[in-house]
Amino acid sequence: MSSLAMSAETAIPGSHAANIETSRPFFSVRDVHAYYGESYIVQGVSLDIRKGEILALLGRNGAGKSSTLRTIARADNPEMRGGEIWLDGEPVHQMKSYQAARAGIQLVPEDRRIIQGLTVEENLNLARVAPGHGFSLEQIYESFPRLAERRTQEGVTLSGGEQQMLAIARALARDLKLLLLDEPYEGLAPVIVHEIERILHSIKPLGITTIIVEQNAVAALKLADRAVILDTGEVAFAGTAQEVLDNAELRHEYLAI
Ligand SMILES: Nc1ncnc2c1ncn2[C@@H]1O[C@H](COP(=O)(O)OP(=O)(O)OP(=O)(O)O)[C@@H](O)[C@H]1O
Ligand SMILES: [Mg+2]
Repeated sequence: MSSLAMSAETAIPGSHAANIETSRPFFSVRDVHAYYGESYIVQGVSLDIRKGEILALLGRNGAGKSSTLRTIARADNPEMRGGEIWLDGEPVHQMKSYQAARAGIQLVPEDRRIIQGLTVEENLNLARVAPGHGFSLEQIYESFPRLAERRTQEGVTLSGGEQQMLAIARALARDLKLLLLDEPYEGLAPVIVHEIERILHSIKPLGITTIIVEQNAVAALKLADRAVILDTGEVAFAGTAQEVLDNAELRHEYLAI
């Protein structure tokens, strides 16, 4: 067989596989239901994200955004009682939170959970104790110069914006596939928000997929590819971020913007 024929033959199945890859969502939530005790909160949520995409998960206070993120990260509460969650072909719905973390799901909660008594660098090194490494310390400091300057400072004494960067950096230090951010811009100055946006944008080509929950819906929508709006635990809208930005009625009804 000539090398030309060989490459033609291998190119066909290869391109076919690539088509399948792009048609299958990288991350998928299918009709998920979750409860705090007997309080029914996440009421049949479904969403799909392709690899490297950013999805803005929006909705009014109490709509169930944080609960949805916690369910995806397989926190004990709320308790998932129905549905499926798939990440890159793996059944996340069958996992405990530590297994979901090992599978590449990292939740950065609203309170950031910086560990008291540890420096910036110690916080980062602690994230690297678990198996499955992502960014090296050098790569983190290159992406977050502010953290490099403050590497010996105690993490909890950082400014709010710096603590948010440290929380995101800690997720990047792991073998990260799906980053879940709960209100990362809360209380931060626009200049810091821009810095975080730059970083979130820069990790897309690495195939890291992000779900961002934000009260600052406009900022999240400008960054995101896709958007899902929750209303009392159900999906009220799913589409592109641009569709939400263009639809004043939708924004008034669910986002008050
Ligand atoms: N630990 C809990 N126990 C019982 N109910 C809870 C608990 N946490 C949240 N809830 C309820 O679940 C509902 C959804 O809350 P959730 O925090 O997911 O909303 P959210 O969309 O993140 O809101 P916000 O924008 O205010 O952060 C609310 O009615 C809330 O009171
Ligand atoms: Mg919340």
